[in-house]
This record gives sequence, structure tokens and C-alpha cells, in this order.
Amino acid sequence: MTERLDALEAEAARAFEAAKDQGALEEARVRWLGRKSELTGLLRGLKDLSPEQRAAVGARANRIRENLESRYEEARSSLASAGAPSGSASAPALRDVTLPGRSIPRGHEHLLSQVLREVREIFHGMGFALAEGPQVEDDWHNFGALNIPKGHPARAATDTFYLRPDILLRTHTSSVQIRVMEKQQPPVRIICPGRVYRNEAVDATHHFEFHQLEGLYVDENVTLGDLKGTLDRFLKSFFGPATEMRFSPSYFPFVEPGAQVEIRCFFCGGKGCPVCGPLSGGWLEVLGAGMVHPNVFRAVSYDPERWTGFAFGAGIERLVMLRHGVPDLRLFYENDVRFLHQF
Ligand code: DAH
Repeated sequence: MTERLDALEAEAARAFEAAKDQGALEEARVRWLGRKSELTGLLRGLKDLSPEQRAAVGARANRIRENLESRYEEARSSLASAGAPSGSASAPALRDVTLPGRSIPRGHEHLLSQVLREVREIFHGMGFALAEGPQVEDDWHNFGALNIPKGHPARAATDTFYLRPDILLRTHTSSVQIRVMEKQQPPVRIICPGRVYRNEAVDATHHFEFHQLEGLYVDENVTLGDLKGTLDRFLKSFFGPATEMRFSPSYFPFVEPGAQVEIRCFFCGGKGCPVCGPLSGGWLEVLGAGMVHPNVFRAVSYDPERWTGFAFGAGIERLVMLRHGVPDLRLFYENDVRFLHQF
């Protein structure tokens, strides 16, 4: 039996070495190491031997099996590294170069950023420069210099986030008017888009954080007509050339006269609908505006006898909601791609 084992080992080792491809090697493996191979049969027959013989022959047979298994592995890896053509299961998968590639989802600019860019371009075309100011503001720039002294009832109208007694998160971008005029002599023609904060309960039309667009124009002989012309041009560019605009008297401490600017509802054409509301008579409020109050000029040491100016402020989310029919302000901040993908 041991002679047969030795002969078998030599024959099998030769067969593994001689295999020219993976298919032939696999055949040799089945023949010499498979379940029905001679070696397996011999190992099975061990049980009929005497205990002493079984121990000796068994140990030898197992060593031969291990040796053959490693010979087989060697042959297999040398065939694989030689890149031999093969038909066996271990062949590398073929690439199908005609399959379409995997698409990688791409993001795009947020709707609010797109609109901010568009608005900047419209005003740039009318000669307005871009201005910026801090979101953490002091009482003077957010209120005092804008003719809203301490104790003024207008302070109660917005719930302010105070960080310290005189330091707050700006409640409007009007504070940037003051910052610009403190640094620069007229003529001044700027817009300032930016984030503002108010301590409001969040619902479909209110948020504690939103964006405004401020505008300021100061020069000699600036008139209410200039304000109307500028806003008419802006609103027609933004909402479409057929947009109708009107001014209604309103009050803001930093302008005199002050106005609420409305456009005719483009959903119902002015008949009254759920968008403009049954009581609005078909007009949508889009921004606040007016002629800069002399006290504001005094606060920044401009001579109110020489200079005149207009200012306006709009809520950007509100403009976008109206133009795109977005029903809920919160959608802008939730980053739900099902919403964002639509724009
Ligand atoms: N700051 C005002 C607000 O937050 C908006 C505003 C109204 C700005 C009239 C102006 C203006 O510049 O002239 O409600």
C-alpha cells in the first residue's frame, strides 16, 4: 500500500505540473484529489487495517495529500500569473464595455442662492454696488442710527435676539445702510443681500432666520420718482414685464415718507385668491421703501439739507415664494432634495 501511495504521489504531481491551462488543471485535481480519487479511496480503506498499520499509513497518506494540495495551488497560481486562457470557474469576469456607466448624482446651486445672484445682476445693471455688514450687530447700527431710539415702539415690533445688552443678531439689513454711510461720502448706490434674525415662532410664513435685500441710493436731488422707477424696473425684471406695481403709505422710522410696495397678484390677476388673500383686493405686498429720514443722515453726519436718498428692503424668501409658488418657508432650510431638484 505504501508503494502505491508513493507512485500515486509522483504521478499526481506530474499531472499538475503538466496541465497547460486551468481547465486541464481542474481535471487533474478531480482525478487525483477529488472525492472519487484513488487517494480518497485509499484513505477510506484505512479503517480495515490493524491499528498499528492504520497509524503509520494514515500519517503518510495525509502528508501526501497535503503535499499534492500545495503542488496543485502552485500550478494554479503559475497558470494564473502567466495569463493562461481558461474555461474554469476561477477565470476573471469579462468586462462589458457597452454597459452604461453608473451615474453619480450631482448637486446644484440652492434656489435662494440662484435668486440672490439674479437679484444682484439686476441691480448691478442699474449701477448698484454690493455691500455687506456683520450679522452680529450693535444697538446703534440696527436701531439707534435708524431713528429707532431706546423705548421706541418700533423696537417691540421685532423680537430681537440679544447676545449682550447692546449686542444683537441684526433684525434687518437696514443696519448696513448705516455702516456704508459711515465709511463713504455720497453718492452712495448699494444693495445688501443678507441673513437676518428674529425671535419668531416658526410656521409656513415665519422663520427665526431669513434673508433680506436692502437698497440705498443717496445723492443730490434723489426723488420719490427715482425710487419708483428703480423698483418698477426691478419688479418687472424679477416677476415679468407685465408686473403692475403700486405704493401705499406705510410707516418705517428711518424713512419719510414710507411706503409699502405691492404688485398685482399674478395668480388671480387681482380678483382675490388664496395667494393674495380675500381682503388684499388682489395686491401682494413685496417690500418696504421710502425716502431716507433726515435723522438717519444726521446720525452718519451727512447734511440733510444737501443730500436726499431712498431706501428699500425686501424679504428674499417671500419674493421667491411668490414667484415660484413655494407654499412653505421651511422648505428652503430642510435640504430635502425632492424640493431642491425642482429648481
Ligand atoms: N427694515 C424693514 C423691515 O425689516 C424693511 C424696510 C422698509 C427697509 C423700508 C427699508 C425701508 O430700507 O425703506 O421690515
